[in-house]
Amino acid sequence: MKLAVTGKGGVGKSTISGLLVRALQKKGHKVLAVDADPDMNLATILGVPSTITITPIIEFKELIAERTETEVGKPAPFFKMNPRVDDIPDKYCVDFKGVKILTMGTMRQGGGGCACPENAFLKSLLSHLVIGRDESVILDMEAGIEHLGRGTAMGVDVMIAVVEPSLTSLETAKRIQKLSADIRIKRLVLIGNKIETEKQRNFIREKAEGIEIAGFLDYSEEIQKINNGEKSALTVDGQVLDQIDVILTKIGIN
Ligand SMILES: Nc1ncnc2c1ncn2[C@@H]1O[C@H](COP(=O)(O)OP(=O)(O)OP(=O)(O)O)[C@@H](O)[C@H]1O
Ligand SMILES: [Mg+2]
Repeated sequence: MKLAVTGKGGVGKSTISGLLVRALQKKGHKVLAVDADPDMNLATILGVPSTITITPIIEFKELIAERTETEVGKPAPFFKMNPRVDDIPDKYCVDFKGVKILTMGTMRQGGGGCACPENAFLKSLLSHLVIGRDESVILDMEAGIEHLGRGTAMGVDVMIAVVEPSLTSLETAKRIQKLSADIRIKRLVLIGNKIETEKQRNFIREKAEGIEIAGFLDYSEEIQKINNGEKSALTVDGQVLDQIDVILTKIGIN
């Protein structure tokens, strides 16, 4: 299964990505965790210590130049749009406690994603990750899916939009729903995060307006510890993991 996690800023995308990695690994899946958010923090959530350097793929300038048939530091009016990337995951991912981690790095922005060798390379890599790999892939994405290429979109089995009990995060989910249809995402589900009351759960159910709800994750002190660096998502158990398991079952992963 290839799962992509998106949603409004700060709703808990990276945390939930980390917890999904944990739950899948515990079930015996081989997992490739991909940080596709320019504001990279998935590795920290997984508990990778600062002594282990994970270089974002975008920083391998020579490699990108070679594959896109350009030269580092020179203008590139022409470049290869579909560079070879199939060897990249195995060569460049970091293995941490049995989880493969790949950090993409910051893509250069520009309306509709600028046409430059770096973006072509990252786009090809992203679509390879969801189409050409055997293991379970979790993509921690930035807020929104506008930048997702069609190739990647088609490879994603389930797009997860994380929401919290706020109207704004649900509005973002609605926008994601519209875009999902345009780029032919197969299935979109919501996860309601940071839940403290039944009322909040009902609020999300009410406002979801037809978007399938995969489940809920309560607000928890333990989860806060993950982001404070006191705990790795890979050591989470108990109620938090139970809730993630319920979500995975709903999604169809056993
Ligand atoms: N279920 C939860 N209980 C308590 N705190 C939570 C929960 N989920 C997320 N948080 C907290 O919310 C904050 C944002 O989480 P996270 O970084 O995962 O969000 P994000 O959507 O990836 O953010 P960004 O848009 O910046 O990438 C963190 O401080 C995290 O600890
Ligand atoms: Mg994040």
